[in-house]
Amino acid sequence: MADPLSLEHELAELGKIAIPERLSILPISGFVLFPHVVAPISVSSDIYVQMVNEVVVKDRMLALVLRKPSDNDADELHGVGTVGRILKFMKLPNGVSFICQGITRIKIDRIVQKEPYMVAEVQKLSEVAEKSEDVDALAASVRNMFLHFIEVFPQIPEQAGAVSLNIESPSRLCDFIMANAPADALKQQEMLEELNVRERLKKLSKILQSETQKVELSNKIQSEIAQEMGDQQRKIMLREQLKKIQAELGEKDDKTTEMDNLRAKISAAKMTAEAEKIANKELDRLGMMSPAAPEYSVSRTYLDWLTDLPWSKSSQDNLDIQHAAKILDEDHYDLQKVKKRIIEYLAVRKLKKDMKGPILCFVGPPGVGKTSLGRSIARSMGREFIRISLGGVRDEAEIRGHRRTYVAALPGRIVQNLRKAGKNNPVFMLDEIDKLGTDFRGDPSSALLEVLDPEQNNSFSDHYLEVVFDLSKVFFIATANILDTVPPALRDRLEVLEIPGYTEEEKQYIARNYIVPRQLREHGLTPENLSISDNAVCQIIRNYTRESGVRNMEREIANICRGVARQVAEGSLTSTAVVEKDVVTYLGRARFFSEIAERISTAGIATGLAWTPAGGDILFIEATRMKGTKGLILTGQLGDVMKESAQAGLSYVRSKAETFGLADDFYEKTDIHLHVPAGAIPKDGPSAGVTMVCALISMLTGHLVRSDVAMTGEITLRGKVLPVGGIKEKVLAAKRAGINTVILPHLNEKDLDETPETAKKDMQFIFADRIDDVIHAAFLNAPGRPDGYIAAPR
Ligand SMILES: Nc1ncnc2c1ncn2[C@@H]1O[C@H](COP(=O)(O)OP(=O)(O)O)[C@@H](O)[C@H]1O
Ligand SMILES: [Mg+2]
Repeated sequence: MADPLSLEHELAELGKIAIPERLSILPISGFVLFPHVVAPISVSSDIYVQMVNEVVVKDRMLALVLRKPSDNDADELHGVGTVGRILKFMKLPNGVSFICQGITRIKIDRIVQKEPYMVAEVQKLSEVAEKSEDVDALAASVRNMFLHFIEVFPQIPEQAGAVSLNIESPSRLCDFIMANAPADALKQQEMLEELNVRERLKKLSKILQSETQKVELSNKIQSEIAQEMGDQQRKIMLREQLKKIQAELGEKDDKTTEMDNLRAKISAAKMTAEAEKIANKELDRLGMMSPAAPEYSVSRTYLDWLTDLPWSKSSQDNLDIQHAAKILDEDHYDLQKVKKRIIEYLAVRKLKKDMKGPILCFVGPPGVGKTSLGRSIARSMGREFIRISLGGVRDEAEIRGHRRTYVAALPGRIVQNLRKAGKNNPVFMLDEIDKLGTDFRGDPSSALLEVLDPEQNNSFSDHYLEVVFDLSKVFFIATANILDTVPPALRDRLEVLEIPGYTEEEKQYIARNYIVPRQLREHGLTPENLSISDNAVCQIIRNYTRESGVRNMEREIANICRGVARQVAEGSLTSTAVVEKDVVTYLGRARFFSEIAERISTAGIATGLAWTPAGGDILFIEATRMKGTKGLILTGQLGDVMKESAQAGLSYVRSKAETFGLADDFYEKTDIHLHVPAGAIPKDGPSAGVTMVCALISMLTGHLVRSDVAMTGEITLRGKVLPVGGIKEKVLAAKRAGINTVILPHLNEKDLDETPETAKKDMQFIFADRIDDVIHAAFLNAPGRPDGYIAAPR
């Protein structure tokens, strides 16, 4: 027995109310009355006021039916409606109002009266309501959705949630929710007509879902708008207050002048439109800030960077080609290829104003004048000169800057130096591009790519600046010792100009005509104060430096100048001539010796030629033996390839033991030791093969290797001599060391074309196909040849 006070009980009672066969029809619009739902209804049209008045005094029952949407006035009704019972009734000045309770769904069967209002025979509709678990589950989920919906949609009174919790019948739950949810009338009608409760629940859950989404979305938009408005208003208010405070503090005046100055600077800088816009925006921001705020100085610094950059300041190119050629010759001896290229560039520049600059790259050993040539180029063109060293640069930010969100952020070195130069078309030297590093801080070479690509460097973006800067007028020059370590993508952008090392004569010439006069000048000396004889220079070159370039020579000459300058300043000297024997008093004991003749005074030593990033060099290979059991010891920091090459050399010698007059078992009770001195420097590569064989043969046979011969070449087990690299540098090194005969692999003959004539002068070349050719040429008395034959050059 149900509790007589419970909602369920009351509703059950409603179900028992008898429905008359004929009912007056009240058309409604905009909503549907659901069974069990109580709703206030007002009527104003005369006909229906009359109808309600008549119903109220009869059984108080009428049928409420939704009008179909139509354009004309004639009422067209849906076929299904709800029986309503009038609970309370009130007359109003312009009609009637009553509270109506929905009783049950009905269907209009037949219209029995049309005028003045409609009366119809109706039939009660009963719904299909199975009692099953999944219907209950559906109902529970619908209820939850409704509770959630109430949360997001405050227009529904919260009690509705509580009521819904108390409705057990799924059918009534649906009707109740439908009456409260903001669905449109047609949807409500659809739900009214749905007699299957399960279907009704499903439809309702869809409706609730879409309504919830709609409401949530609109809530979100609303709250965003509200927040924005709030923020803006807050800022405006704060700014107003700040202004007042500043006026009180008397700060305003200083700041206004500063603002005015900055504004003038911005327009004077002739920036790009984009940059100017950003600068003005930043200025506005600055205007809002108090100078005491930490952000103020950040913003101020940024503006300084923007306004100080040479947006449209260029230096006028001096396109007088004769003048340029003269200056280039003034600063450097020879280097014809490079100078020619520069003159060509100027010539094209003269004819075509908007040419894209080439990216030249000078490649060569240290001290050959790469950097100073860059400076000289700038001078000859009348442009500013900038140099940055890329050695050890690992961080992309060094090139491209840090974002301003970093503390103490700065632009990268490109932009920093452009500001320093104050011109947008300097000669910009990227020194030691081969020493660029890469690690977790990003790849600086990719930033450089952007800098060096003529297609994109007109819009170079620095992280700090945040606006693009045009680098296309900059004349970039890169330098490198070797090209191997330059990232390939970068190498593709470069026009490589090689600068090989200098020979002794060239160095002498450079010293006499360039370095000595310059050093005199730099030390405040005149040629009357100091002269350095050619022999003294030669002594410096041979015994105090061993290099491809002239950097150390210049340093030593500067040492002499310093020494003399001191004496002149002290007044103890007014004029001196430094000759060969004086060098030691200024520079101390000689550092290098022409050691070859001395070194090769015993058997077991041969002179090889090596290639290093600093140019070529000679190297000695020493062999010795001791009692032991077929051991081969290799020392001198040799790489794997060089070690294997030594083993191959030994195997060759053993296989030819007889030819060299050695006992078959000479190796049985012997250990052999090969050593390559100049010890701490790691060495590798196969090119010392022939030298090792010669050292071995010399040691085993007791024949001396010629001290004026140096050699290079790889060998095979069968005694063939294979070509190797770095011929040009090696020949220069041989020349430097006073060697007069160089043995090269035959297949390297063509490489001599690229070797400077001065280095080839007075030098004899022997081209070897087989190791025999090498042996013939290298030994004073060729072993295995009783006639002591020395090979003649081919
Ligand atoms: N051909 C040359 N004529 C005159 N001076 C030279 C020449 N080559 C190099 N020098 C001088 O040698 C010094 C070292 O040159 P530098 O440009 O530093 O070499 P790199 O950059 O190739 O290592 C500079 O003072 C330079 O003027
Ligand atoms: Mg340099």
